[in-house]
Amino acid sequence: MDVLDRMFEAAKAARDRAYAPYSRFPVGAVVVTETGALFVGCNVENAAYPNGLCAEAVAIGQMAVAGERRITDVMVLGAGDEPITPCGACRQRLLEFSRDDTRVHLVNISGRKDTVLLTDLLPRAFSRRQLDDLARENNQR
Ligand code: THU
Repeated sequence: MDVLDRMFEAAKAARDRAYAPYSRFPVGAVVVTETGALFVGCNVENAAYPNGLCAEAVAIGQMAVAGERRITDVMVLGAGDEPITPCGACRQRLLEFSRDDTRVHLVNISGRKDTVLLTDLLPRAFSRRQLDDLARENNQR
């Protein structure tokens, strides 16, 4: 099985575990790291709505706790005809651990797929680069 097929199977299994009684919109996400490891997440909602977690955030948490830091590929799986895209906050979360060439595979359950670069989903993003630049300037003073 190639990596995209493995990601799709993993995303479906994760989505089946989603806890989404309020939106009834289960989502599965997978991140793949430079070592080739896959980490999955599903959305986990809460009666206090804003406390809900997106599938991508859960996958990133699993990756971080395993000691991994660099994402090469992301897959997000939701229902509907159009493949879904990560919310704004998750684009920023993903960017933290991504490279300039990190791909995001947007899929629906029938397997329809669209692949985009994360940097195209979040152009001119704020990142640690700006923080590092400022720290360097401050050190020079
Ligand atoms: N959701 C995700 O988990 N990931 C996305 O990329 C889009 C939205 C979740 C949040 C909420 O539990 C439900 O989908 C409806 O917004």
